[in-house]
Amino acid sequence: MSRLIIRSRREDITRFMNLVTDRIKKINEAEPKPVTGKYGVNVLADKLHPKTQTLVISDNRRLSEKTKILSLTPADGSLSFFRAGQSINIKNGSFSSPFPLLSAPGEKKYEIAVFTDANDNVSKHLFELPVGSVIEASGPEGLFYYSPLRDKKTVIAVCTSEGIAPIISMAKSEDFNLKIIYCDKSQKFVFKELLNGFTVEYTNEFSSEYIPSDCSVFISGPADFCENVSSRLKLEAGRARIHIALPAQTENLPDAEYKCTVIYRDKKFEFSCFGNETVLAAFERNSIPSPAKCKVGECGFCRCRLIEGKVNTVTTAGIDSRRKADKKYDFIHPCRAFAESDITLAL
Ligand code: FES
Repeated sequence: MSRLIIRSRREDITRFMNLVTDRIKKINEAEPKPVTGKYGVNVLADKLHPKTQTLVISDNRRLSEKTKILSLTPADGSLSFFRAGQSINIKNGSFSSPFPLLSAPGEKKYEIAVFTDANDNVSKHLFELPVGSVIEASGPEGLFYYSPLRDKKTVIAVCTSEGIAPIISMAKSEDFNLKIIYCDKSQKFVFKELLNGFTVEYTNEFSSEYIPSDCSVFISGPADFCENVSSRLKLEAGRARIHIALPAQTENLPDAEYKCTVIYRDKKFEFSCFGNETVLAAFERNSIPSPAKCKVGECGFCRCRLIEGKVNTVTTAGIDSRRKADKKYDFIHPCRAFAESDITLAL
């Protein structure tokens, strides 16, 4: 094991020891006026990582009958920073969906893939929008990206067409050795023209023979695909990154209708939800003001408390990303929960 030696400088220690005294002195010397405006560092942070941004559809390219690539340019001219593999969340009324960026960091625009056959309101809406349309999106976010401190230099990415966008972004960014295993049962491989020059294995079915032992694995596709690949690989914890492409898999769930009651501050909402839609989808259908970003149980942004009733909190590859305390005190992620009885929730 190699040793890392850190030597401290005496000046640094002295500065640290005097930190509190210097701060009190500066506070006492300052004028007793309230601070107005924003600190420069906060202005820069907002610019690099905006909460929302206005984007214009500058190009709209058809890859197949049901798939398009949209180019999005910022209305104010400045594109916020992102890492290859991250997503932006786009709103359409009370509905929202995350879209992984398939452009690479450093490009002057965002690119996303939209599907007209997706069971997703926002993707269908974007598919029909003409060039020049203006949309609202979140800043880029998400944890599905390569990290040299965490991941190996060689990465195998196993994906389907629904999950290939973040993998293309990673392939373009060239930070590491990437081999893509592109799985498509229909053998159409609609994103093939975007993969020229990259190392790609095209297959109709994934085989674990593709994975050497000394590599990191990124899996991206619908939930059942991610489950299947990760369970066949039997990867030890931490070796695989998983990105679930929306929408959630619901075919095997009962379509029973339940009553959902939501308490939000001093208001109470009552509406129906179905056993084969996520609780968050029922919120959106009924215009309940619930925040959401990733919609796959990762960010915790939609977290709320289950006061009464039973939900199925779905896991993927055995991962339930809620904190231990959340599980103990009945906090759920509505984006990854399906009602199994009448339910009452506090937002
Ligand atoms: S939206 Fe991210 S955890 Fe639900």
